[in-house]
Amino acid sequence: MTEKGDKWILMATAQTPTNIAVIKYWGKRDENLILPVNDSISVTLDPDHLCTTTTVAVSPSFDQDRMWLNGKEISLSGGRYQNCLREIRSRACDVEDKEKGIKIEKKDWEKLHLHIASYNNFPTAAGLASSAAGFACLVFSLAKLMNLKENQSQLSAIARQGSGSACRSLFGGFVKWIMGKEDNGSDSLAVQLVDEEHWNELVIIIAVVSSRQKETSSTSGMRESVQTSLLLQHRAKEIVPKRVVQMEKAIQNRDFPSFAQLTCADSNQFHAVCLDSSPPIFYMNDTSHRIISYVEKWNRSEGSPQVAYTFDAGPNAVLIARNRKVAAQLLQKLLFFFPPNSDTDLNSYVLGDNSILQDAG
Ligand code: ADP
Ligand code: DP6
Ligand code: CO
Repeated sequence: MTEKGDKWILMATAQTPTNIAVIKYWGKRDENLILPVNDSISVTLDPDHLCTTTTVAVSPSFDQDRMWLNGKEISLSGGRYQNCLREIRSRACDVEDKEKGIKIEKKDWEKLHLHIASYNNFPTAAGLASSAAGFACLVFSLAKLMNLKENQSQLSAIARQGSGSACRSLFGGFVKWIMGKEDNGSDSLAVQLVDEEHWNELVIIIAVVSSRQKETSSTSGMRESVQTSLLLQHRAKEIVPKRVVQMEKAIQNRDFPSFAQLTCADSNQFHAVCLDSSPPIFYMNDTSHRIISYVEKWNRSEGSPQVAYTFDAGPNAVLIARNRKVAAQLLQKLLFFFPPNSDTDLNSYVLGDNSILQDAG
C-alpha cells in the first residue's frame, strides 16, 4: 500500500435497476448460499425509475466496515452482507490511482475497511424488489472499487448470496436465474436471455398500491412456504420447469398473448402458494384484487391480452402493456378507476419501459 499518511480515500459509485420476475422465485433449497428450488425469469426495469445508487469507499483511516441505507446506519453483521463482502474481498485485485498516488495491492484488501452508502429511489421492503437492486448494486460497486476481473454472471452468483432476486439485476433485458445443480452454488447464476432492445415495445407501469413495509419479508415468507406448502413442491417440480421453457419461447418470439398468459398465471400461482402456507401469507390486498379483475375483464373484452399483471411479495401491481398505445389507455383507465389519493389508496404510478442499461454500470 502506498502511504500518503492515512488521509486518502478511494470511492466508486454504481446505479442498478430493480427487476420484476415473470416466472417467480419462491423457495430455497439452501438458506445460507441462497439456492432456489426452481429457475426464474425476470425483466429488468429502466434505471431512471426504480433504482439503487451505492457509493463504496475505502480508506486506511476507517477502522471498521460500516453501511448506511437511505441515510440511516444499518448493521453489516448479518450473514448475507458478510457473505457478499467475503466473496468480493477474496477476488479483489491490485488497484492503482496514479493521480492520487494510491496503490492498493491484492493482499491489502483483507485489512482495509469499507464505508458504504446506498440509496433507493423507491420504497424499501415494500414488494418492489429493493433487495434485488440493493444487493446487485452493492456487489457491482465493490467489484468496481476492488477491480474484480469476474464477468457479470460470476458477479451475479455473489449478488445471489445477498438476495436471490439480486442476481438477475446484473443484466438488462430479460434475464434467467438458472437454479443450478451443485451443492456449493457455483452454477446457480443469472444469464441474459435477450437484451433491452429485443422487445422494446413493451411498457411497464407500476401501480403503487401501498409503499408501507410488508409484514412478512420475502425471506421469511418463502421459508414458511417451503416448510408447509405442498403446492410449492408441485409448482417447483412439475409446473415451473415447463413454464420456463414456454416463457423463453414467448420472449424470443415476442409472442405477447403467451407471455401475458404465463406471467399472470405464474403470479397467481405464487400468491396461491402463499395462501397454501401455514399460517397463510397475504401479500395482495383488495385493491390488488380489483386491479387483477379489471385487467382480466379488459383482456377478455379485447379478444386477446393487451396487458399482463404480476405482483411480487407485496400489494403493488406491475402491469406490462403490449405497446405504448395500450399503456396510454391503461394509465387513463387506472387514473379513472383508481384515482390517486382516493380511498383505494392507489397513490402513484411509475411509468417505465424496458429500455434498460446493458449492465449495471
Ligand atoms: P423487497 O420486496 O423490497 O425486495 P425484501 O424483504 O426482499 O423486500 O428485502 C428488503 C431488505 O433488503 C431490506 O430490509 C435490506 O436488508 C435489503 N436492502 C434493501 N435495499 C438495499 C440496498 N440498497 N442495499 C443493501 N441492502 C438493501
Ligand atoms: C416474490 O430475492 O427478496 O420477488 O433471496 O430471501 O432475499 P431473498 O428473497 P427475495 O425474493 C424475491 C421473491 C419474489 C419473486 C422473484 O423476485 O422472483
Ligand atoms: Co426482495
